[in-house]
Amino acid sequence: MRKIAIITTGGDAPGMNAVIRAATLTGIHAGCQVFGIKRGYQGLITGEIEELTAAKVADILHRGGTILHSARSKEFKTEEGQKKALAQIEKFGIDGVVVVGGDGSFRGAQMLNKLGVATVGVPATIDNDIGCTDFSIGFDTALNTVMDAINKIRDTALSHDRVYVVEVMGKNSGFIALYAGLGGGADAVLIPEIAPDLDRLVQRVEENNQRGRGYSIVIVAEGLFGGPSGGQALTEGTAFKVGTYINLRTRKDTRITILGHIQRGGSPSALDRTLGTRFGAAAVDLLVSGETNKMVGWVKNEIKVSTMDEAIARKNQIDPALYQLVEMLASV
Ligand code: F6P
Repeated sequence: MRKIAIITTGGDAPGMNAVIRAATLTGIHAGCQVFGIKRGYQGLITGEIEELTAAKVADILHRGGTILHSARSKEFKTEEGQKKALAQIEKFGIDGVVVVGGDGSFRGAQMLNKLGVATVGVPATIDNDIGCTDFSIGFDTALNTVMDAINKIRDTALSHDRVYVVEVMGKNSGFIALYAGLGGGADAVLIPEIAPDLDRLVQRVEENNQRGRGYSIVIVAEGLFGGPSGGQALTEGTAFKVGTYINLRTRKDTRITILGHIQRGGSPSALDRTLGTRFGAAAVDLLVSGETNKMVGWVKNEIKVSTMDEAIARKNQIDPALYQLVEMLASV
């Protein structure tokens, strides 16, 4: 393996730059020429490919987003698009690609693989919904952003004795909502994996009042009622529906906050930097040793390698016991 490339695709995630830096430096150390493919699979089709050097990846470890930019490409899903992508791979003489992203990115990697291009995946999505890894890059930073927002919302909620419904991202996955509920001490968490009991929610708000606590904090995952809102502040979105229901039933002054894309930005946390660095290096090691169609993951505090097929097939599942724990703590 002499020439490797790195691509970031799908929604960006804080820590992607840590992966790019480590993969580039590890590749150069192993004697490879390293390329960066810009704007995801769309950039691969149009040949937006440039060499990455140690100088180009200096000073990026602490930055959110991705220096390679990201995009969702419809054209790459077509046979025509894939042919164009393969032509670029051949033109640059690329032997293997480190694919950094979520499940859509890995499906793209499988397509490349079928075309004879070696690929190794690095899980990076704030949704944390990729199988075969406890954590995906970006989840921890997004969670910390949500924690910070909840701290601030709690101050004003307490001052005004209001109910706050906070909508968080996660497409069809409740990871951010559940962990934010645990770490932020929410009164209720509503996630797509567990059917919402809105009567119990109303009861919880009323119990809080009876106990002399005038405010409640409810965290809802954007995909609660099926399909993500994509962080868009649609007036009739998930938080709006839940907030309206609570307000009508309890007559409590209620506000909604949709955290949206602020969850995707910001300087990566220590976990996302260290994990991103280890993942980037491990992915290049795999490519250099001739592996393909693999994904690096973090399972029980160790780097674990799985096949890309397993990682896609086994969506990361929330632990229902954590949901019960939030419920129990809020009920006392
Ligand atoms: O997959 C990451 C994610 O941030 C989801 O949580 C969210 O539903 C979606 O991307 C938003 O996508 P976009 O940036 O295209 O609006």
